[in-house]
Amino acid sequence: MKPSTLLSYASLAVAAVAWPFGPDYSLVGFAKNNPIGPTTGGKGGKTVVVKDVASLRAAIGDDVPRIVIAKGTFNLTKTRLLVGSHKSLIGYGKGAEIVGAGITVANKTNVIIQNLGIRFILDNDGITLTNSTRVWVDHNEFESDMNHGPDYYDGQCDIVRGSDWVTVSWNYFHDHWKSSLVGNSDVLRSVDQGHLHITYHHNYWRNEGTRGNAGRFGHQHLFNNFYKDFRYQAIHSRSDNQVLVEGNVFRGDTPEPLSTYGLVVPMDSPNTSPDGDYEIDGFANLGAKNDWGHGKINITQWGNFTRAPYKYKLTALRDVEKVVKSGAGLGKI
Ligand SMILES: *[C@@H]1O[C@H](CO)[C@@H](O)[C@H](O)[C@H]1NC(C)=O
Ligand SMILES: *[C@@H]1O[C@H](CO)[C@@H](O)[C@H](O)[C@H]1NC(C)=O
Ligand SMILES: *[C@@H]1O[C@H](CO)[C@@H](O)[C@H](O)[C@H]1NC(C)=O
Ligand SMILES: *[C@@H]1O[C@H](CO)[C@@H](O)[C@H](O)[C@H]1NC(C)=O
Ligand SMILES: *[C@@H]1O[C@H](CO)[C@@H](O)[C@H](O)[C@H]1NC(C)=O
Repeated sequence: MKPSTLLSYASLAVAAVAWPFGPDYSLVGFAKNNPIGPTTGGKGGKTVVVKDVASLRAAIGDDVPRIVIAKGTFNLTKTRLLVGSHKSLIGYGKGAEIVGAGITVANKTNVIIQNLGIRFILDNDGITLTNSTRVWVDHNEFESDMNHGPDYYDGQCDIVRGSDWVTVSWNYFHDHWKSSLVGNSDVLRSVDQGHLHITYHHNYWRNEGTRGNAGRFGHQHLFNNFYKDFRYQAIHSRSDNQVLVEGNVFRGDTPEPLSTYGLVVPMDSPNTSPDGDYEIDGFANLGAKNDWGHGKINITQWGNFTRAPYKYKLTALRDVEKVVKSGAGLGKI
């Protein structure tokens, strides 16, 4: 039995500390260890349970610390959910469903988003973090389809405009073209440079096109992620971005697990030229061994982001597929 099935609403938010009874899902990485303090979300505030869109918007929009347990399906009907500072937004039980529009965290700090199914979002991203700091995106599922071409849907979880100190962990991203963009333009160096520190760990990416993640001007640490059938550039570091890549496993049709070429392939950004867009290259750094599967990495420059400035525990490479498949996504916390 999962420990969380025994817990009340109030203790759901801290279900991660149920370890050592189950896997240790506690917060790790830049959202925890950073110069402005750990991400705690709504900790210390009231816990409320919401079951309809109006109650959800009311509970989540202000900047008062609050733990919001979302129960059921929420159709946002084209109006994005704006999340305020100091919030934990947690899907109840097997997960709450967000449809009809996605979630935005804009100009805010200290937000936790967990256990939400975010599906078939049109016109904009599933989750957008813009000009925001200290955000933990954990144990969600992002889904659409690849039948409509690369530009029908937008990103699954995009992190832009100088956002910083973010951890993206244990999410299940699948059936989508453009997954996770970090830094949304090569002309925004002055906004983004020195920011965009993001940890991606134990995420499961399956049947995706590009951006797992794609980064500009920032630093991303990617460890113990599992990629299956990621068709084009999976991890793509460009525009002076730095990635530290370790302990990841790539399987299936995943020809280019890691690239630092500035060329953005047409399936990623068919904006100005049928050959793709050109920007300057990024940097790669490799830590613990990765398993590239049948893919070939394509590195033009090695960088200096060779160690993550925090403690973390690596899953053994041979266990990554099993641990990630069983631990990522909904109903696990
Ligand atoms: C959300 O509600 C709109 C308006 O009622 C409806 O057209 C749409 O089909 C609903 N979306 C989902 C996924 O149920
Ligand atoms: C974020 O702040 C910028 C600059 O003050 C403002 O233009 C923008 O509307 C804000 N976004 C939201 C969603 O409040
Ligand atoms: C970023 O958010 C802060 C508030 O946290 C606001 O003061 C600032 O204007 C925003 N900047 C931009 C470029 O939106
Ligand atoms: C590396 O990437 C560039 C740009 O996408 C491509 O032209 C080149 O063929 C790739 N090299 C290898 C060895 O895959
Ligand atoms: C790391 O490399 C980047 C890109 O070359 C450079 O701008 C930066 O100053 C270097 N940082 C350190 C601490 O050496």
